[in-house]
Amino acid sequence: MENPLIIANWKMKLNASDSLDLAKRVKKASAKYNGVEVVLCPSFTEIAQVNEIIKGSNIKLGAQDCFWEEQGSFTGEISPKSLQDYDVKYVLVGHSERRQNLGETEEMIHKKVRLLLTIDITPVLCIGETFEERQDGLKDVVLTRQLHNAFNGLWLNKSDRLVVAYEPVWVIGSGQDIDPDEIEHTHQIIRQLLYDLFEDRVVDEQVKIIYGGSVDSENIAQYIARPIVQGVLVGGASLDATHFSTIIAQAKKL
Ligand code: PGA
Repeated sequence: MENPLIIANWKMKLNASDSLDLAKRVKKASAKYNGVEVVLCPSFTEIAQVNEIIKGSNIKLGAQDCFWEEQGSFTGEISPKSLQDYDVKYVLVGHSERRQNLGETEEMIHKKVRLLLTIDITPVLCIGETFEERQDGLKDVVLTRQLHNAFNGLWLNKSDRLVVAYEPVWVIGSGQDIDPDEIEHTHQIIRQLLYDLFEDRVVDEQVKIIYGGSVDSENIAQYIARPIVQGVLVGGASLDATHFSTIIAQAKKL
């Protein structure tokens, strides 16, 4: 298996000093992270300092969002170009918390993905159904729509990478474990949908599908033991350096 991708999404959960402290602790442990690709996504306000802290280590920097234009009259927005200046390699796009709380539309998400690809930042497209959609039997419909609207008409150059994070909305922050068989099955569906959108070779070599939703050091092994689960997006359990390092140690074991 290729190196698993472990992305820490710190959300808006830490103040500045706690973020920097966490970045330092994670960096301290990072010598042990060989064989795992680790990405930290702090708040924008800490991006520059976290970049300085992790410089020279094998940890990469991610951002939790960006705007869909490089420059212009967009008060309060963050250009992906500015993120590039701070060595940001990944950007989360379309997280369910943004879709729900900020009215982020699939058109906006598409434009963000498109722009990120042009400047060599890897978009991490977050998709997933709500509990109601699942109850109504709409899970596959939702995943199909979200993937198509995000990626339709995009062309990937050889150096471009994409990550799709499958995050069932009802599992995020809930502490629930999901049956790994179901996650494996959903990842298979997502992979199949990607084959409709890109050439097979592109999907196999340039796209990763990862899982997110209450991942912790107890349950990670059962998810990434399935080869189709190529990594995890971790929220709550990434906020404590010791716990996060245990997650990485579990990923390394496989
Ligand atoms: P969680 O968050 O691990 O706290 O469930 C995951 C996410 O929202 O990306």
